[in-house]
Amino acid sequence: MTKVSKFPMRAKAAPPLDTPTDLSTKAVTQMTQALNALLADTYALHFKTKNFHWHVSGRHFRDYHLMLDEQSDAIFATTDQLAERVRKLGGTTVRSIGQIGKLQTIKDNNESYVPPREMLRELMEDNKHVAAAMRKAHKLCDDHEDSGTASLLEVFIDETERRTWFLFEASRQEGGNEA
Ligand SMILES: [Fe+2]
Repeated sequence: MTKVSKFPMRAKAAPPLDTPTDLSTKAVTQMTQALNALLADTYALHFKTKNFHWHVSGRHFRDYHLMLDEQSDAIFATTDQLAERVRKLGGTTVRSIGQIGKLQTIKDNNESYVPPREMLRELMEDNKHVAAAMRKAHKLCDDHEDSGTASLLEVFIDETERRTWFLFEASRQEGGNEA
């Protein structure tokens, strides 16, 4: 009987899931780990952005509520592409919220009230964190000549930086030069 590991980061998938690839086993292992970590953070960031969309309050309610909805949708749209990239490489990806919780490096925010500006600043920092992780993963792609993942990440880095820009501008204090 084939032993199937329960460990989600396992590089070698169970035989029926072992998608053929010309990439080395080391490349598949490292890309799988990097992409699954990014995927977990992407889910965590999607949920936190949605959480703030639901719980934002104050005089900028409509603007912030709508911007956070747009951002959470855009973040969610990348999850399927990240997960399927792992499967194209022959790795396996996350299977549950429980696994995401173990892999995520973004901190959840379960506070009962967060002031609106703090929400935007926290999300700005989280998006910067994700962009940095994507850049690291991109470097790994170069090392392994994984141009398929690299081109995907280039688009996602740009989208993440766009979110950071919007969050930065929206969270600036009105009438002042202070960032
Ligand atoms: Fe909504």
